[in-house]
Amino acid sequence: MSQLKNFFDANSVAIIGASNTPGKIGYAILRNMLDCGYPGRIYPINPKDKEILGLAAYPSLAALPEKVDLAVISVPARLVLPVARECGEHGVKHLVTITAGFKELGKEGLEAEKELINICRQYGMRNLGPNCAGMMDTHVPINTSFAKGFPLKGDIAFYSQSGAMMIAILDWSRSIGLGFSKVVSLGNKADLSEIDFIEEAADDPYTRVILCYIEDVMDGARFLEVVGKATRKKPVIILKSGTSQAGALAASSHTGALAGSDLAYDTAFKQCGVIRARSMTELFDLAIAFSKCPVPRGDKVAIVTNSGGPGIITTDNVELKGLQMSRFTKETLDELRAGLPPEAGIYNPVDVLGDAKTDRYRFALEKVCADPNTDSVILLMCPTAVTEPVETSRVFIEMRDRYPEKPFFAAYMGGGSLQEGADMLAQAGIPCFTFPEPGINAIKELVNYGKFKNTPLAGDELVFPDVDKRAVKAIFYDVVKDNRLVLLGSEAYDVARAYGIPAAPIVLATSPDEAVEEAEKMGYPVVMKVASPKILHKTDVGGVKVGLKNAAEVRNAFVEIMENVTRLMPQAVVYGIEVQKMMPKGNELIIGMTRDVQFGPMIGCGLGGIYVNLLKDVSFRLARGLTRKEIEAMLAETKAYTLLRGYRGEQPSDIPALVEAIARVARLVLDFPEITEMDINPVFTYPNGLSALDVKITISLS
Ligand code: ACO
Repeated sequence: MSQLKNFFDANSVAIIGASNTPGKIGYAILRNMLDCGYPGRIYPINPKDKEILGLAAYPSLAALPEKVDLAVISVPARLVLPVARECGEHGVKHLVTITAGFKELGKEGLEAEKELINICRQYGMRNLGPNCAGMMDTHVPINTSFAKGFPLKGDIAFYSQSGAMMIAILDWSRSIGLGFSKVVSLGNKADLSEIDFIEEAADDPYTRVILCYIEDVMDGARFLEVVGKATRKKPVIILKSGTSQAGALAASSHTGALAGSDLAYDTAFKQCGVIRARSMTELFDLAIAFSKCPVPRGDKVAIVTNSGGPGIITTDNVELKGLQMSRFTKETLDELRAGLPPEAGIYNPVDVLGDAKTDRYRFALEKVCADPNTDSVILLMCPTAVTEPVETSRVFIEMRDRYPEKPFFAAYMGGGSLQEGADMLAQAGIPCFTFPEPGINAIKELVNYGKFKNTPLAGDELVFPDVDKRAVKAIFYDVVKDNRLVLLGSEAYDVARAYGIPAAPIVLATSPDEAVEEAEKMGYPVVMKVASPKILHKTDVGGVKVGLKNAAEVRNAFVEIMENVTRLMPQAVVYGIEVQKMMPKGNELIIGMTRDVQFGPMIGCGLGGIYVNLLKDVSFRLARGLTRKEIEAMLAETKAYTLLRGYRGEQPSDIPALVEAIARVARLVLDFPEITEMDINPVFTYPNGLSALDVKITISLS
């Protein structure tokens, strides 16, 4: 439930630092509040002046005739804390702190920012900023910003972590007639962040599309929870900048190296239904599309064009984006054949030819739009000497009004000669681009969003009553006591077993006799591996022997491995030799986990073995909120999935068992935040069941 009551819809606003001096921010904010037609009471606060911009000014909050809902703070940084405290003492509900000079300046600024939030918490106030450009709501209306001008009224809510970006977008949006419901500059996000605003906008009747430009998410768990709910109500489109690979380079496990820091965002967005834009242009193209168009019933696109080349390019793009070209019914084709010149293309794309005037476009559009296999329509036009852009635009608008359940897009491929027609479409709410690709991309996102909304929530929490948490705790305790953070293979096997993850038995033996005893217990053949935290590449030091078939071979292998290791790595502490049941070959997969600072554990699965990093066939999901359905979707994204389903006559693998094992790995890493990295590579999958062969677990001290 949003806690922003009386934030946008404040009944009264104090502007602390309001000024009579044009050019000052305190002047601009008051000017904006007056100009936007704010219906509540405005109180300029200034210790020197009695009147500012025609309003009575007050020396302090104490002098006001009422408690105000909102205070906008625009005084120098050194005054912000005492002013905020004063706000708290005088019952202000929310703050918009414009002032810069906090966290962005370093340690001292960060301390001041923390203190600002402490004060807010103490008095139950919420704070936007500091270091922000303010906020606006066109429906209240209210404008606490120092931006130039006010946005047009609309149904897009835009939250920006860059104040400059927000101001620039506002200016541009007016020039193309784009309207907003709310516009917020998030600033340092010391308290209120995009998460709070998305939560509020999800239930705001004036907002149809939620748009964000962000540089980070500061509370991954809450983001997933809140945004995951919001996307079920309306589209949330986010442009996230700063997609650095530094995290990937620092990671030591396979899974960590494959993931990278941006992947966590990508995965988080995917999992909670956020539409991710990759550029400012795409962000606003999609915003317009979602604001103006319905979500289509299906993915079939019809194209009407007056030129062959662009028709082919658009067709290619439709396929590239995973959409389908409409296949018209026989009736439609017969009608098109009868009514268009014989040279025209009647199959999709419908090519009405370069000499088409409005009447021919109308004829083709009427048939194509009415066809039951048309879910979305895109009109292409290039300006020949006979083209009638304005009249044809009028027809296209008429068709859109006739079929409001279908998205209509246009690409007017030209310049000035098409402008009037293009403007007419834009004003009527039909997205019109210069080239077709943004339109097709928008259709793809509309289709995907429709699918997302129609997928029921899984409600499938990963709960396993049979897991033995205490056993795992005890293993970690012993490892730390032994001054280690990396588990031995046998310890990792015990962890896997405690969580019901099928693994090939592996036991530590400290003598040849013990090795034989264990091998006999588990049955031949066996594999033997040196157990030493110092030896990462066991094969390189002669530390691995495979296919041992009897007691004599086991005994010899024990002695040989010990000799090899003593010779090649005399300084390494050796705990003994691990004896592992040798498993029959299966499909070789990897299941792994790496931890993201914001979003927590990420689970990866894909083709395993020694070529993992080369093949990069691993798909990821966040462990938080993971469901079996999502695990299946994750597997289906990999090439390994083709192998699992039985490639070229091979028997299919036990996919349900694999899904279950991944679910259990997710449970394990959620239950134990001290597991920093985990790789199970390889996992052999069989027609019946699977077996983890090599389990690597690294823990932290916390
Ligand atoms: N209560 C009320 N008013 C006060 C108080 C007080 N306790 N103390 C001083 N004032 C008045 C001042 O007298 C002054 O009014 P005046 O013009 O009548 O003299 C007014 O408050 C402002 O104080 P100044 O000292 O003049 O401060 P100034 O306006 O120069 O700067 C500001 C204040 C704008 C908050 C500045 O410190 C700042 O942070 N600027 C950067 C803002 C910013 O960039 N934010 C991020 C935006 S995002 C982006 O990048 C676009």
